[in-house]
Amino acid sequence: MDTEQLARTFIEYFEERGHRRITGSTLLPPPGDPVLFTTSGMHPLTPYLEGRPHPLGSRLVNRQRCLRTTDLDEVGDATHLTVFEMLGSWSLGDYEGPQSLEWGYGLLTEGLGIDPGLLHATVYAGDEHTERDTASLRVWEHLGVPVEPTAEDNWWSNGPVGPCGPDSEIFLWSGEGPPVSTPTGDDRWVEIWNHVTMSHRRLDDGSLVPLPQRNVDTGLGLERLASLLQGRRSVFECDVFDPWRRLVPALWPLDEPSLRLVCDHLRSAVVILGDGVRPAASGRGYVLRRLLRRALTVLRRDDPSRTLDDLPPELVRHTLDRFRQDADPGEVLRVLTGEESRFVRLLERGRQVLARPRFRGPLTEEDLHYLHDTHGLPRDLITSLREE
Ligand code: SER
Repeated sequence: MDTEQLARTFIEYFEERGHRRITGSTLLPPPGDPVLFTTSGMHPLTPYLEGRPHPLGSRLVNRQRCLRTTDLDEVGDATHLTVFEMLGSWSLGDYEGPQSLEWGYGLLTEGLGIDPGLLHATVYAGDEHTERDTASLRVWEHLGVPVEPTAEDNWWSNGPVGPCGPDSEIFLWSGEGPPVSTPTGDDRWVEIWNHVTMSHRRLDDGSLVPLPQRNVDTGLGLERLASLLQGRRSVFECDVFDPWRRLVPALWPLDEPSLRLVCDHLRSAVVILGDGVRPAASGRGYVLRRLLRRALTVLRRDDPSRTLDDLPPELVRHTLDRFRQDADPGEVLRVLTGEESRFVRLLERGRQVLARPRFRGPLTEEDLHYLHDTHGLPRDLITSLREE
């Protein structure tokens, strides 16, 4: 089953159960949102989770592109991407968590043909302020799915303040042989779907108040589940990366961790550019710049003559198409190579400046400020140049 079929099956399954499909938004949250990028399917729905009526009703389903820089250091493992797609379903004050879990189990086992013996669930164990999620626990016991209660891992929030609540996560066994242990005990249990009962809001002072309505918010990582269904070892081997894996190693021979990082970061940069962001010294543009610089640093480490001028336009087109973006691939490539030239010039200047006797020893905070303000050299670049 390829990712497109998986996304379609998910959306149709929820449509058959009274959910209306909403169009996913771009990676850019609406003005006024404190977060730079859309991080989950629920993110653009925050006002509706907080009680505003949604024009399409109380049962929604969608497919949302997301960007998470919190996971940047995990990129390259089997399950994390910087830009990924999330399939989501919502009950806005309509049905409750147990119904969502029963439907979720039905979709995974009957709709997608997953062996129920390979599933494990976790539920919220409760703490001194909030109750144990016994309703979800009972659903899993009734369905015969092993379940593990945890406290920290099963309280979902999008940040220090805002909507939050207990969640029940569904894991799929990715090991060879029969499943062993539990999700907290063995990382071959891969989290595939999170069902949050979004019932509370955390205030600035840290206290919790009930939301005007109890919602259900679920999110399933599309590329992650697709790679497991396709029997692949990592998200980098699922079908969305096919052209990348075919074209990039032929162009730039890289070891597997470097190949994963380069593909992840360049693909993410294309999607960010496709949503209209341009490289800059702060904000979203700086996230884009950092991703590109990380990819270029890895590429140029073995061979400084490697250049994005050689990046096949087909990869840019394929990525923009997948994310249903209508940006001009030629323009995206021009921005990529323009940013590369800027980076290469900066590296040259950095090497010259850092060769001065004053900067040979340990650098003080004052030196770092001077290098940044006078020569435009960011701290992370200085660190990597000094490691050369
Ligand atoms: N908000 C939850 C998550 O991001 C489910 O959508 O995992």
